[in-house]
Amino acid sequence: MNPPPGYRDAPLSQFHNEPTDPDEAADFLQRVYAENPKLGGDAQAAHRIEQVREQIAALGTYAHTRAELAHGARMAWRNASRCIGRLYWNSLVVRDLRGVTTVEATAEHLVEHLLMASGRGVNRGRLRPVISIFPQAVPGRPRTVLWNEQLIRYAGYRDGLGDQAYVEFTEAVSELGWRGKHSSFDILPLVLQEPGQEPHLVDLPEDAVLEVPLSHPDLPWFAELGLRWHGVPAISNMRLTIGGVHYPLAPFSGWYMGTEIGARNLADADRYDQLPVIAARLGLDTGRETTLWRDRALVELNRAVLWSFEQAGVKIADHHTESRHFLTHIEREERSGRTVPGDWTWLVPPMSGSISPVFHRYYPEADQRPNFYLDETARDLGRCPFHASATAPVPTPAIPAQRRAAPIVRPPVPGLSEPTGELPVITPERLQLGGPESGPVRKGWLLGSRKN
Ligand code: ARG
Repeated sequence: MNPPPGYRDAPLSQFHNEPTDPDEAADFLQRVYAENPKLGGDAQAAHRIEQVREQIAALGTYAHTRAELAHGARMAWRNASRCIGRLYWNSLVVRDLRGVTTVEATAEHLVEHLLMASGRGVNRGRLRPVISIFPQAVPGRPRTVLWNEQLIRYAGYRDGLGDQAYVEFTEAVSELGWRGKHSSFDILPLVLQEPGQEPHLVDLPEDAVLEVPLSHPDLPWFAELGLRWHGVPAISNMRLTIGGVHYPLAPFSGWYMGTEIGARNLADADRYDQLPVIAARLGLDTGRETTLWRDRALVELNRAVLWSFEQAGVKIADHHTESRHFLTHIEREERSGRTVPGDWTWLVPPMSGSISPVFHRYYPEADQRPNFYLDETARDLGRCPFHASATAPVPTPAIPAQRRAAPIVRPPVPGLSEPTGELPVITPERLQLGGPESGPVRKGWLLGSRKN
């Protein structure tokens, strides 16, 4: 069994938008129809596989039915070996947005994703797991790219303010004209880029970002730290692969486990680095490690996160409960005859590892599909977009003379740098997805507003 790309020593994946592998398609369809007898069983599977093989032979890929898409997305979650929250895989809400191609419509649907995931009206805070699936990759056809790693992230500034993981991303969007308030928690804009076009910045409307200010159940000063976090974690740079078909834009979200915020985002030295601040307020002796001041501050920070989310009515999980749920998930899956792949290094919570039951065992490290993959270029676009070209898989075109001195060059957008021409061109109509075909495409570098 091969570990998934990105798993410890296994390199990250790099997407080349090749024609769909008919055997992966057949394997997927077999499973879907076996797992969902109401779709018609073996006979229907055989018929569908034959049809799909023909489509792939003629067009290079095929289109999923709604049922295949929904179940495939849920399977991808089920196979996500780093996720501890998989017990609820079958309740994933799947939004079929395969007909949405323009930047404007894409932006609207991303905002709608956040509103749906946050819950509306009296349900606000009752977070629901949602995935929004935009058009599949089609060999030879460029696509709209979202740079962001998550739909909601906070800006970071060189002077130490904000999320230090996003300093370069913040600088990139600032060069594109975005202005933050220069606070510790400025919401970054979405950056969408159509083939051959300038990147397009979209500020998220306030109601799309549910946030929780942090206070502590018995330390009144805690609120004065001015800490907060957003309620919905929405990963937006992973490629969803279902039956050999790739969906490069398929953001998904669930709810937080408290330690993600309290033991990583706000605690990591290269993020918000709050432990020394909290330890000082607690009056701990930070001169010696043996006082365990870091550990004590960590516990109080994590209590604050869980307590504040609960007070605000925003769904969150603690790491003890979530660990137990994960073991229940494994039992259930084994009863259904399935293996649960797992990455121990991610599943074990980042605090109190050994008092969580997931610590005391190992997990099979298999790359089971459908799944989500992080591609190198997507990773770089989400953190240091102007350096993303360093890892792009294509030869870099000559840099126009007037830009040669520039310290920073624009990345080629992944979809723009793939070979065209050899493969049959598939229109959405031929894939029976509806929606307008994208217009003529300019290949190569993105030209535009960066002022050198
Ligand atoms: N750890 C990431 C963050 O802090 C989010 C990853 C996904 N987490 C989740 N609970 N679905 O933003």
